[in-house]
Amino acid sequence: MHLGRKTLSKYLIENVSGTKDGADLAALLVDVAAAVKAISALSAKGALGGATGSMDTTNVQGETQKKLDVLSNTAFVNTFEMGGLVAGVASEEMDDPFPVKEPHTRGPFLAIFDPLDGSSNIDGNVSVGSIFSILRAAEGGGEPQMEDYLKPGTQQVAAGYALYGPATLLVITVGKGTHGFTLDHEVGNFILTHPDIQIPADTNEYAINTSNERFWEPPVTRYINECKAGKTGPRERDFNMRWIASMVAEVHRILIRGGIFLYPRDTKDPSRAGRLRLMYEANPMSMVVEQAGGLSSTGRERIMEVVPTQIHQRIAVILGSRNEVARVMQYHQEHDAGKGEPFSSPLFSDRGLFRA
Ligand code: F6P
Repeated sequence: MHLGRKTLSKYLIENVSGTKDGADLAALLVDVAAAVKAISALSAKGALGGATGSMDTTNVQGETQKKLDVLSNTAFVNTFEMGGLVAGVASEEMDDPFPVKEPHTRGPFLAIFDPLDGSSNIDGNVSVGSIFSILRAAEGGGEPQMEDYLKPGTQQVAAGYALYGPATLLVITVGKGTHGFTLDHEVGNFILTHPDIQIPADTNEYAINTSNERFWEPPVTRYINECKAGKTGPRERDFNMRWIASMVAEVHRILIRGGIFLYPRDTKDPSRAGRLRLMYEANPMSMVVEQAGGLSSTGRERIMEVVPTQIHQRIAVILGSRNEVARVMQYHQEHDAGKGEPFSSPLFSDRGLFRA
């Protein structure tokens, strides 16, 4: 029992409901929490709930849809449709945005979400999450058009994620810091357990999928090589590496103890600017991270200032502890200016073991 501790509703009443559209935004975030509770219950049943395994379908990204992807998408869409607080929704699991229509009521916001991120992890019982971004809909209450969704991340009025791990957490920002709530399963309330999260500015921990190393750009290779060289390299200290392949879990770890997460641009598929999606992965996570004192960049520009051109657009993502992200941005600048020799391991130097 957590009597006397602050619930999500109490937090929203105190911090959101007095602002412009605040009461509606607070109510919308309560709807997000309701969908998250449903997904949490479903995913916690595992194989017993019959929701593990794949569908025979692929999403617009060409990825095989898991049953839980589809059920989670339905949980969000139905909750938003019934809630009367959004004019339309867009999701990783739907080719096109979906306008709210009669008999449902349109509200003043747009919700963009990834209902179940990292879903390749479901069958392995590894943490997964949901990510959401809230924008203002155009005034007038008409059916939202594509350009209404394609707004830079700086225009988000709220963003956050749910992490379905050993505990279910909801981390949100309405532009007044980043706050984490833990689900008390017995009572059914989200309780404020992580107020005003601050990402440490420095870190010794990086997260990147190194199987893509041969496709990276030189500034990323330089940064990771320097980390790997540890005490014997130019950074003169050892680094640790983590890769869960579940962005929500990765970002949450960084919020709690610092770190840098990189899914950089690479040449693996030249038609894509990165792996992660701008509208429902990069933008909301960037707002969460920046509100917690971190940085989020493509390496060359602030992610939240990128003007989107497509709803399922991909982008390079480098986020986390501010001094490390700033360093990677500096390496991109130096590279683009023709400066900054990539660091080579001492093993490969003139006097090293493996002379070229
Ligand atoms: O869709 C995104 C995602 O599942 C992220 O949650 C995760 O960070 C990334 O893809 C994992 O990518 P990879 O399969 O290349 O490790």
